[in-house]
Amino acid sequence: MRWLVTVWLIGTGLLAAPAWGQQASPAVQRGKAVFHATGGCGCHTDVKNKGPFMAGGRPIATPFGNVYATNITPDTETGIGSWSEQDFINAMTKGIGPDSKHYFPVFPYTSFTRMTRQDLLDLRAYLLSISPVRQANQPNTLRFPFGWRGGLSGWKWLYLRTGPLQPDAAQSAEWNRGAYLVNAQAHCGECHTPRNFMGGLKTSMRYAGAVEGPEGQLAPNITPDEATGIGDWTIADVVWYLQTGLKPDGDDTQGLMSEVIEHGYQHMPEADLRAMAVYLRSLEPIVNKVEPKDK
Ligand code: HEC
Repeated sequence: MRWLVTVWLIGTGLLAAPAWGQQASPAVQRGKAVFHATGGCGCHTDVKNKGPFMAGGRPIATPFGNVYATNITPDTETGIGSWSEQDFINAMTKGIGPDSKHYFPVFPYTSFTRMTRQDLLDLRAYLLSISPVRQANQPNTLRFPFGWRGGLSGWKWLYLRTGPLQPDAAQSAEWNRGAYLVNAQAHCGECHTPRNFMGGLKTSMRYAGAVEGPEGQLAPNITPDEATGIGDWTIADVVWYLQTGLKPDGDDTQGLMSEVIEHGYQHMPEADLRAMAVYLRSLEPIVNKVEPKDK
C-alpha cells in the first residue's frame, strides 16, 4: 500500500510539474477560450502541408482566386510580434494592417468586428504566447478587380459595419451569449451565408446556406427550417454536433466544418455551445435548399 502511494505521489508530482512551470496568465487563459470559440483560427495553419501552427501560408480558394492566410505567430518580422494592441484591433475590426493595407474579406473581420475589445485583447495575449515561427507571407493570386486592395475601401463602405454586437434587452442572457458567439467569435455566418457577386454576405439569407462557401465547400442551411435547414435538430443535437461532428442521422462531418470543430468549437464550454444552439433555434426559418451545383 505504501509503495502504491509513493508511486502515486511521484506520478502526480511529475505530471503536475510542467503545468506549474508554464502557468499561463489569466489573459492568456481567457484568450485561449476565445481562440477556441473562433474555431481555432484553423485557416492560419497549412495543415495539408504540415505547416507550423498559425504560421500562415495556407491557400484559401475563393471565387476570385487564392488568398493566403498570414503568419499570426509572435515572430517579430514575419508574424504579429511587433504589432501594437491597436494594430491587432484594427486588423480584426477594420480589416486594416499596420501598413494601412486592406485585408481581403476572406479574413472574417466582418464578424470579428462584433467582438468586444476585451475579448480581442485576450485573443492577442494568447496568440503572443504561442511559439514564434519565421515564415514570410505569400502574395495572393486574385483576379482583377479583386486583386486590387484599393477597391476594398469601397467594398468595406458597402459591406462592413464596425463595432461590437449590442445585447438585446428583450432576450435572455443565454440567447445574448449565443448571439454574440455565433455572430462575432465563431463567425458561423461567414461560411453559412451565401455571398453576392461582390463577395458581400447576402444579409437577407443569413445562415440559409452557401453552395460555394470558403474553399468552394457547400455549407448547409442552418436556420430552423424543417425541410431545408436544421429545424428537426434538437438543442442537444446541435451541442453534440459541435462537440463531435456527428449529425443526428449518424453522418460525420467533412472539410472546413470538421476543422473548426476539431481545433475550436469542441473545446468550448458546454454552456456556450448550448447558448449558440438556443440562438440558432430562434432564427427566422428560411426555406433554401442548398445543393451541389452539378446535381
Ligand atoms: C469555415 C467555414 C465554416 C464555419 C466557420 C462554420 N461552418 Fe458549419 N459547416 C461548414 C461546412 C463546409 C459544412 C458542411 C460539412 C459537411 O458537408 O460535412 C458545415 C456543416 C454544418 C452543420 C451540419 C448541417 C447539416 O445539415 O448537415 C451545422 C449544424 C453547422 N455547420 C453549424 C455551424 C455553426 C453553429 C457554426 C458556428 C458555431 C458553424 N457551422 C461554423 C462550414 C463552416
